[in-house]
Amino acid sequence: MQTLILNGSPRKNGDTAQLLQHLRKHLTGEIIEISAYYDNISPCIDCRRCKKTGICVIPDKMQDIYNTIETCDNIIIASPIYFSELTGRLLDVASRLQTYYYGMQKNGGHPVKKSKRGAVILVGGGEGDAQIAYDTAVRILHYMKAKEVYPLICSHRTDEIPAAEDEKVLDEIRKAADFLQL
Ligand SMILES: Cc1cc2nc3c(=O)[nH]c(=O)nc-3n(C[C@H](O)[C@H](O)[C@H](O)COP(=O)(O)O)c2cc1C
Repeated sequence: MQTLILNGSPRKNGDTAQLLQHLRKHLTGEIIEISAYYDNISPCIDCRRCKKTGICVIPDKMQDIYNTIETCDNIIIASPIYFSELTGRLLDVASRLQTYYYGMQKNGGHPVKKSKRGAVILVGGGEGDAQIAYDTAVRILHYMKAKEVYPLICSHRTDEIPAAEDEKVLDEIRKAADFLQL
């Protein structure tokens, strides 16, 4: 069982990190975590080379992620909510999935062979609602062929209660881990 985690938080021990630590306790197998802030992944520059070749030419860590997207069983998107969305840095990483968009246009089918399961873990101080960020995350997961996605998990009162103390969310994460390992 291989799980890819895309972490959109800049806080190394913040709310997202705490929830991911909890998730790790319940997940077996290999876990590969990518930091949208610290892994130096360039955004898509819309050079359109992938439109012709199906391959992204930017030589950075995203190349490893493309390989992991091929092989993994699960993908988790975990992020703080910023202005009701995923963080900008995480959207930058997601923009590199444009190569799959062109791949789908060209082949009719999905360029990633193996279907995956997905889950979305969000945290927010308490402003607005989490639906926009969740919908974006689900779209991004679909781009990576994570078709079956667990319902929204969101600790949305972190200004008052740290996510690590949000018992309902901790329980949901345990259930999501069961879903991912079915
Ligand atoms: C620039 C910025 C924008 C934010 N926008 C929202 C928002 O729209 N809704 C919300 O509930 N919280 C918002 N927050 C609060 C964070 O989502 C919240 O503090 C979260 O727990 C931080 O997670 P982290 O510790 O994993 O980074 C925002 C925080 C920042 C820095």
